[in-house]
Amino acid sequence: MPQIFKPLSHPLAFFILVVFALVYVGDAYSGPSVRHGLRQYRQHDMHHGMGHVGKGSCPQVRYTADAPDKFLKLTNPLVLNSKNLTAGESFFHTDAQPTACKVCHGSVGNGMGMMAPGLNPPPRNFTCTETMENIPDGQMFWIIKNGSSGTGMVAFKSLKDKHVWQIILYLRTLAK
Ligand code: HEC
Repeated sequence: MPQIFKPLSHPLAFFILVVFALVYVGDAYSGPSVRHGLRQYRQHDMHHGMGHVGKGSCPQVRYTADAPDKFLKLTNPLVLNSKNLTAGESFFHTDAQPTACKVCHGSVGNGMGMMAPGLNPPPRNFTCTETMENIPDGQMFWIIKNGSSGTGMVAFKSLKDKHVWQIILYLRTLAK
């Protein structure tokens, strides 16, 4: 009798089952608002503890919805001068409300900001030419104004059109 293995009677067995159950349930329920089908594109080179430096993911997979045609046709009406660039830079690094862009997009724009490890899909890597050259100015304008629904990219309703264009001028300088 003592030789018969009775798994569930062992005090540890129950504990282990509970742990498994919790891990399973936790996984199934994590992030109900996340688009599950897109999970697989979490970047592999961007794990917790990586810090904010590095090249970021490039080319970066992108599933962002397209702006309506009238926005896609827009081009930046501002001239590229130091006044506009400095303004755009300030919004990106500190002034944008509710929170500065660099918190997610990283201070060098590589998409690896402080909050990035918790975000799926990840923030856009503005330093990646291959990805950025396919994103029209008007697309960026529309996303900045309206956000990208179902993602961490919130709508920046407080920014005036001019401010958004200033930021876009600055973003275009980040890809080398
Ligand atoms: C809380 C995190 C967060 C903040 C703050 C944030 N972003 Fe984003 N941003 C994201 C994420 C996540 C994406 C990717 C969205 C997607 O894949 O659809 C993104 C995508 C973008 C894109 C790409 C749009 C496209 O069509 O590919 C632009 C442009 C952008 N953000 C600009 C900004 C600007 C400008 C600011 C500051 C005014 C800002 N973001 C602040 C998280 C953030």
